[in-house]
Amino acid sequence: MEQCDAVIVAAGSGTRLGVTIPKAFVPLGGKPLLAHSLETFIAYPEIDRIVLVVPAGLVDRAVDTFADDKVAVVAGGAERWESVRNGCLASDAPWVLVHDAARPFVTASVIDALLVMRNRFDCAFTATPVVDTIRTFTGDTAGKTVDRSKLVRVGTPQLFRSSLLPKCFDLAATLPSPPTDEVFLMQQIGIPAGIARGDPKNFKITTKEDLEIAEGMLRLGMK
Ligand code: C5P
Repeated sequence: MEQCDAVIVAAGSGTRLGVTIPKAFVPLGGKPLLAHSLETFIAYPEIDRIVLVVPAGLVDRAVDTFADDKVAVVAGGAERWESVRNGCLASDAPWVLVHDAARPFVTASVIDALLVMRNRFDCAFTATPVVDTIRTFTGDTAGKTVDRSKLVRVGTPQLFRSSLLPKCFDLAATLPSPPTDEVFLMQQIGIPAGIARGDPKNFKITTKEDLEIAEGMLRLGMK
């Protein structure tokens, strides 16, 4: 199989978490949040190189903290897609896997399920089923109930054929609002996206409650 590098984006601010340090550096189980997914990718044999994308002011600290033969560190951008672009520019592999540092519970089997999609797709992502009833709303009034059997919860890691990414980033720069992932951009340029089986445990830490749940999971040995 062709080589695949991992890009871990960790340049977000953590505003919704209510912390003053960048989210990826918040402690979880006694080490920075970012360290959890990084360790999984370092231990994954098929990934040769990992690019960490951190806030510009923390590049030196990240180099000191996460030094490893497999790891390079670059500065992120104001929007997530700019951080992904900066990370991808530091890779010359034919494939890149993009992962949110805010998802510490990624596993080797989730990565396996995604990488196998290279046989059939130029772009793929991991996802889990929607289990709640989903309904639109205006103010405090409910609108339509959406058919959840046709929905998936989109997660990371996500996989891309590198040669297609420059066109995606050119497009992103022209959009009125920033894309929430690069699969959206791939779809906009006409590339079909495959769906790989994700793991509900690989949720994104966004709020203080998410962090508490993650601490509890670690105490229970769920990683
Ligand atoms: O903000 P959100 O939770 O969607 O961020 C998802 C991931 O993207 C996080 O790991 C965050 O650190 C990263 N990010 C980034 N650069 C930004 C914004 C978010 O690397 N400008």
